[in-house]
Amino acid sequence: QLPGAAATLRGATAVVTLEPCDHTGRTGPCTEALLEAGIARVVVARRDPNPQAAGGIDRLRAAGVEVVDDVPAELAATAAALNRGWEHGLVHARPLVTAKTALTLDGRAAAADGTSQWITGPAAREEVHRLRTTCDAVLVGTGTARSDRPTLTARRPDGTLHPRQPLRVVMGTSEVEDLPVVDGAGEALHLPTRDPSAALATLFDRGIRHVLLEGGPTLAAAFLRAGLVDELIVHLAPTLLGAGRPGVADLGITTLAQRLDLELTDVAPLPTPGGGRDLRLTLRPRITPTPG
Ligand SMILES: NC(=O)c1ccc[n+]([C@@H]2O[C@H](COP(=O)([O-])OP(=O)(O)OC[C@H]3O[C@@H](n4cnc5c(N)ncnc54)[C@H](OP(=O)(O)O)[C@@H]3O)[C@@H](O)[C@H]2O)c1
Repeated sequence: QLPGAAATLRGATAVVTLEPCDHTGRTGPCTEALLEAGIARVVVARRDPNPQAAGGIDRLRAAGVEVVDDVPAELAATAAALNRGWEHGLVHARPLVTAKTALTLDGRAAAADGTSQWITGPAAREEVHRLRTTCDAVLVGTGTARSDRPTLTARRPDGTLHPRQPLRVVMGTSEVEDLPVVDGAGEALHLPTRDPSAALATLFDRGIRHVLLEGGPTLAAAFLRAGLVDELIVHLAPTLLGAGRPGVADLGITTLAQRLDLELTDVAPLPTPGGGRDLRLTLRPRITPTPG
């Protein structure tokens, strides 16, 4: 909707990441809102893959609006990335899950005493805060909420809050009332369950389409075992601990043939103070098990 803005928008161009819908769902048709506002030209980065909602481009053209739908590939790719969670929800009826973890070179997520702040440098940590702004919810287990006492807000390097904050979610059966993650700095939710599918179903019902799973190792393992991780982002620090918490808890794998292979889709260095480098690995679990 474009409340009260019609006078200033008459004759304007609207640039949208997704074909304006032409149906009434939770809100009215976007096409109607654009027509009422007097928009003269609409640039559409991506056609709506939802057959129920499609038809917006035809409707706008029929009403005399100029529609540009052959945008440069780079713009279409950016729009696709922005729409990822939403499109995933259409197909799978659950949120897209990105699991993020910071690991030492020997795969540790925390030292033997439980400390893990910080394994990686400031660039990696800043990236996590940016990632939080692109997701609808940030999820941790009660173990992490208790040991690290994170607020899970998305902050700039100077500590100020980003304008777009994710829903902060803690999952697990124990109490969390006394923890910073459920304080007053934004919307927060406790899911008193250990069932990853049930947790995602609750979040989906609340309109959450992209979840950033920030650990810890127990929760990451539970989601991986359930086949509910779509993408992994690993910040790998060139440092060793030799002991401590492994990045992922028991996956129920007892022999090499059962291993969970991942496909590496991107590798990028992230600078650390003093001229060093962390690595950002982007991976996705392979759907088909490795033979033999
Ligand atoms: N390096 C990193 O990126 C990173 C990230 C996060 C945490 N950490 C470190 O990890 C450590 C905490 O690890 P953690 O494994 O205890 O934390 P966790 O995975 O955050 O929480 C584990 C707790 O979550 C609850 N839970 C929810 N779903 C579950 C399920 N399906 N199965 C089992 N338990 C479930 C259980 O508590 P209930 O009794 O409440 O049900 C369980 O004890 C800390 O040392 C922290 O610093 C590191």
